[in-house]
Amino acid sequence: MIVTIDGPAGSGKSTAARKLAARLELPYLDTGAMYRAIAYAALSRGVDPADEDAVIALAREVSLELDCGPTHTRVRLDGHDVSEAIRSLAVSEASGAVARIGPIRELLIARQRQIARDLGSIVTEGRDQGAVVFPEADAKFVVVASLERRVRRRLEQLAAEGEDADIEAVRENLRVRDEKDSPQWAPLLDPGQAIVIDTSHLTIAQVIDMMSDHVLNPRAG
Ligand code: DC
Repeated sequence: MIVTIDGPAGSGKSTAARKLAARLELPYLDTGAMYRAIAYAALSRGVDPADEDAVIALAREVSLELDCGPTHTRVRLDGHDVSEAIRSLAVSEASGAVARIGPIRELLIARQRQIARDLGSIVTEGRDQGAVVFPEADAKFVVVASLERRVRRRLEQLAAEGEDADIEAVRENLRVRDEKDSPQWAPLLDPGQAIVIDTSHLTIAQVIDMMSDHVLNPRAG
């Protein structure tokens, strides 16, 4: 079974995807972590994330390993666990530039499909999972939330990771990323393409209940 969860940054899709995977006892794939790992590799080697040729060469050279558990995706880059290091605001910004490089997307999409083939069943989260990577998925969700709600969540998340972020910087980062990312998941908002869940006023438990109902009783609507 393939379940896809897409949507903008800060919509709550990562938490939803992790908890849904745990509820369904399926492996969880965080595809954003793959783009982040390449961005992290570029930053730590002094490669400009917008320098397409240099980033492509780097992505072909590094070893990227993903461990998809039911509650986490751990990422190892050249043998080092970078799962926490890839969460900084600097890596968030750089990952946007990396994700716009066509050959990087092709490389990572091929890896994502391979992971799904190897694991058989998966809850996968990103921007393009339902529309591009797994159009044949058994269940597709788009998770959305208002910009202000997403700014709050991102600030809380960064604070929990010990990063003291400026509210304006976070808002601007989300706004810019929305402009760049939305073409990937917006097609899923068309009627019949996916189940749209607005998490602005829902608890995470409500979101997970809605999702698992749809997955386990697909005909119930
Ligand atoms: O979800 P995230 O914030 O961890 O994603 C990091 C970056 O990667 C973000 O700029 C969007 C991009 N991304 C993407 O283009 N396609 C995906 N499937 C997942 C993430």
